[in-house]
Amino acid sequence: MVDVVLGLQWGDEGKGKIADFLTPRYDVVARFQGGPNAGHSLEMNGKKHVLNTIPSGIFHENCMNVIGNGVVIDPVRFMEEIRRTEEAGADVKGRLFIGRKASLIMPTHKVLDAAFEHAKGDEKIGSTLRGIGPTYRDKYGRAGMRIGDIFDPDFEDRYRDAIKLHLNTIEQLKFGDFKLGDLEWEFFEAIEALKEYNFVDSEYFVNDLIASGKKVLAEGAQGSMLDIDFGSYPFVTSSNTISGGVTVGLGVAPKHINTVRGIFKAYCTRVGGGPFPSELDNEEGQLLRDRGHEYGATTGRPRRCGWLDLVALKYAVMLSGVDELIMMKSDVLSGIEKVGALVAYEIDGKRSETLPYDMCKADLKPIFEYKEGWSEDLTQMRSEDELPESFKNYVSWIEKETGVPVKILSVGPDRSQTIIR
Ligand code: GDP
Ligand code: IMO
Ligand code: MG
Repeated sequence: MVDVVLGLQWGDEGKGKIADFLTPRYDVVARFQGGPNAGHSLEMNGKKHVLNTIPSGIFHENCMNVIGNGVVIDPVRFMEEIRRTEEAGADVKGRLFIGRKASLIMPTHKVLDAAFEHAKGDEKIGSTLRGIGPTYRDKYGRAGMRIGDIFDPDFEDRYRDAIKLHLNTIEQLKFGDFKLGDLEWEFFEAIEALKEYNFVDSEYFVNDLIASGKKVLAEGAQGSMLDIDFGSYPFVTSSNTISGGVTVGLGVAPKHINTVRGIFKAYCTRVGGGPFPSELDNEEGQLLRDRGHEYGATTGRPRRCGWLDLVALKYAVMLSGVDELIMMKSDVLSGIEKVGALVAYEIDGKRSETLPYDMCKADLKPIFEYKEGWSEDLTQMRSEDELPESFKNYVSWIEKETGVPVKILSVGPDRSQTIIR
């Protein structure tokens, strides 16, 4: 049986915190897409950990952590992350299982990412520059390499062949800002170090575990509005972030998917470029940024902030068949007199409760509604009956709009600051 936990907005909803919180209910936590563009923060016992490629179950004994075929791996960043996580006390050698079919991010993929962004100028995506897009491009163009290839005696020759085309493109784009020698040195060094870890045929590994009655939690990265097919294209990432991505990113059949949990922030954020209809490009937005410490876990970039977008949330719930909602960062809204949410768009003068075909091109204005705020500090609350009435009304409003119950409320970054309803 596989349950899913994924982000319903533009990423950074708090997936890491919740995957870690839910891990005791599972035997396995698995990543099915994305790569080092993700930054998942976990806080426990006064310590903060940021994971990029390693699943968020790694700090629990008895939990296996699997990296599925849908993930893209940068050996250099991955080894840094492994060492950091080991230093924090996790048994990575014993608990991490790397799917051989995961894609390999080569040094030139990172250079290409920067070169493509540079060439786009003002239209740039705002990529994390981790090589994600170019690596998936090669995967689907059938020109990529996989992490299991590092054990092939011909690995280096195949690598040299693969990067020829990359170097041509980089030259065409007149992008000279890199030293390949240095990048390759750290790449090959990391690959040697990586060989000491566990590699598995993750589709067999996961299906055998399912067959023996184990419970798997599939942990999404990014968010539904960054999905390659359904997000605000082209301002998206290069993988399927919705629940459908689990089946192809892990090799599990749809019939094994059980509960889908969707995570959203009580408001909304986005990093990088692209449309963001409920954005508050004003003092209110700055207030959310300050109170919510909205700066990227991976890149440190300030996140754009706005009210909750109920139209986009309902869209994401539909795409993934979300059974249960989890609301994060409830504490951040305390003290705001009127809490807003986007209930519809005005597109070319007409009200719409669905997303337009092209969010980037549509002349789209937000229609907000407001509810009474609450002044109480929620961070110390641990049960539902302590919560203020106007906060509960806000939650009921979201449940009514989406038709899905909010089962968990997060009131702070720590594992313990979580209320189950
Ligand atoms: P992810 O990418 O979805 O795992 O989310 P990130 O870790 O990138 O961003 C979420 C940020 O919010 C992190 O800094 C978390 O520590 C923090 N966080 C998570 N839940 C809460 C919460 O309920 N309240 C507050 N104030 N911070 C939270
Ligand atoms: P987590 O898992 C927020 C955004 C980037 C950029 C776009 C494409 O921590 O929620 P990419 O590097 O994938 O080519 O970037 O997607 N982006 C994220 N934003 N959280 C993430 O991951 C993100 N991963 C990518 O900012 O706009
Ligand atoms: Mg993040």
